[in-house]
Amino acid sequence: MNSKFLKSDHIKLYKRENSNYWQMKIKLPRQKSIRSSTGTKILKEAEKIALKYYSGLIKKNYINFKKSQPVFKKIHLVETADLNKKEIEYILNESKKYIKFNKSKIKKINILEGRTIFNLFFEDSTRTRTSFEVAAKRLGADIINVSVRDSSINKGETLLDTMTTINSMNPDILIVRHPEEGISKKISSIVEASVINAGDGSHEHPTQALLDALTIKNKFKKFSKLKIAICGDILHSRVARSNIIILSKLGAKINVIGPKEWLPKNIKKFPVNIFTEMKKGLYNCDVVMMLRIQKERIVGKIMPNQKSYFKKYGLDYNKLKYAKKNAFVMHPGPMNRGFEIDSKLADDVTRSLIQEQVAMGVAIRMACLEIIINNRDRFIND
Ligand code: CP
Repeated sequence: MNSKFLKSDHIKLYKRENSNYWQMKIKLPRQKSIRSSTGTKILKEAEKIALKYYSGLIKKNYINFKKSQPVFKKIHLVETADLNKKEIEYILNESKKYIKFNKSKIKKINILEGRTIFNLFFEDSTRTRTSFEVAAKRLGADIINVSVRDSSINKGETLLDTMTTINSMNPDILIVRHPEEGISKKISSIVEASVINAGDGSHEHPTQALLDALTIKNKFKKFSKLKIAICGDILHSRVARSNIIILSKLGAKINVIGPKEWLPKNIKKFPVNIFTEMKKGLYNCDVVMMLRIQKERIVGKIMPNQKSYFKKYGLDYNKLKYAKKNAFVMHPGPMNRGFEIDSKLADDVTRSLIQEQVAMGVAIRMACLEIIINNRDRFIND
């Protein structure tokens, strides 16, 4: 029984004067009280009534947390390239219940109670780190945030030694953000814990692309007739790469738009149409996804002038007119306001889905944690 819902002051056990029977009274907030008198079977009866009320509350206020048949059966989430269409759709569907749950008053369900998750961020983050923490806590797991600034990495310990050290503490999931491309995959091959890639250099950011897909799905329901523009610094963007893979697998048409020098050399290998002009690339698009200029990765190269870049590639209301009439704007954050996106447009909730993306990030990450832990229980722990 979950003591969160049924507290000791909700139940009263008492025996009237001269009576041989114990009686029980249950009074939950805003509910009619009930009484039962059952003599020696009082504890069994109490349990039955309490469970009935508990499941009633769960049904009324919450959602069905019954385990579904897994379609995604892996224990790591390191690359979108590993996901097929059915697996992506499964993760999106599993996230739906958490959208509702995250809007409810009590945002806690202890389905991951006793599980240990580590947030290992070797690069700055606001959204991804905190949303994984919120997700883990709402599911009842213990989450440990390792501050890399205070870790023994500073004393010369290698990353892989850090990982094996933490692995010896028997965690269930390691969530890793690191500037090295492919590092999550490498870590997943040396630890027993599951690994979730929270961004590895310019390579991949799977949960960002999943939350972007969920945001788009909520607006448009289907991907098959959608045209989505991904604009800006494509070369250095892990978000662009993961989104191209996920959204094209779901059936959307993708236009990538950016300066020639910021289009990856192998871009033609991806299922995209390539543009260097916003006017042409945005034509007939339903969604315009802007990318952050990855200043930290543009080392040894010339940073474009903010004013001239914004004029050519920054999204404002005028350029948005090149897209469909009611096209939506997205941005994974953090934003460089006035560089890749106009500040007013970014905050215009009639056009911008940016805050919606953040909300979907928690739902997606809750689903990913739940699915991966369930897969561990099904396929390795039992
Ligand atoms: N979108 C994204 O990954 O943001 P953070 O760097 O704040 O986590």
